[in-house]
Amino acid sequence: MVTLKTPEEIGYMRRAGRIVAACHREVAKMIRPGVSTWDIECMVEAFLLERGAKPYTKGYKGYKYATCASVNDVIAHGFPSKEPLKNGDIVKIDIVAQLDGWVGDSAWCYAVGEVSPEAERLMRVTREALELGIALAVPGNRLGDVMHAVQSHAESNGYSVVRDLLGHGVGRQLHEEPNYMHVGTPGKGYRLKEGMVFTIEPMLNQGTYRMTIDRDGWTARTADGKLSAQYEHTVAVTKDGPLVLTDQDNLED
Ligand code: MF3
Ligand code: CO
Repeated sequence: MVTLKTPEEIGYMRRAGRIVAACHREVAKMIRPGVSTWDIECMVEAFLLERGAKPYTKGYKGYKYATCASVNDVIAHGFPSKEPLKNGDIVKIDIVAQLDGWVGDSAWCYAVGEVSPEAERLMRVTREALELGIALAVPGNRLGDVMHAVQSHAESNGYSVVRDLLGHGVGRQLHEEPNYMHVGTPGKGYRLKEGMVFTIEPMLNQGTYRMTIDRDGWTARTADGKLSAQYEHTVAVTKDGPLVLTDQDNLED
């Protein structure tokens, strides 16, 4: 069942989302060659706890950390590690906070030092795919409209869209209905209604969309070892249009 949120509830979710956004702003300041994703993990956990928020992923389905830290060919759900980041790496940091019972979820892809033009382009196109999807998150549109925009932008730029990891509704829980791939057909799929809150979190690969999971049971990698990028926001559908609850701009609102 898809639970619709009242404007007041969306206000609470905005507060959770704002903490995630502010935390990403601190991550951005830390990213450079020599820093490890373990250093980032420690900062993120402390940042959330200091603000009264719960690092939601820690203990979730046996996951042990406050962040997912996914480097280069790791698509998602990588474990933070003491291995230093290197110049030219791209790293996806995924943060989920729960504040007063409400969840905010956002992942961001960061360039470490100077990255290749190819990595830069993959990151840019992925960010654009997210923005194109967000613009269509309005009442009356369907999920297929949103995801078609994501998919066609990815594929027209020569990238593939991961199919095996899904976007999801968000609320008091991280994973609510609906669940969907970031590919779609216009006019198909769930019809968006005022009060729906869900993630748009496209994962774009340079090569195949196929992935493997490491023996740790979590780390998802591209099957061909090529790069993958992801950006994720938690988005509310309102009568005034899409409201990005984890927006990193306007944190002073
Ligand atoms: N942002 C991820 C998601 O969309 C976070 C889940 S990681 C997990 O589901 F460890 F909590 F599963
Ligand atoms: Co998510």
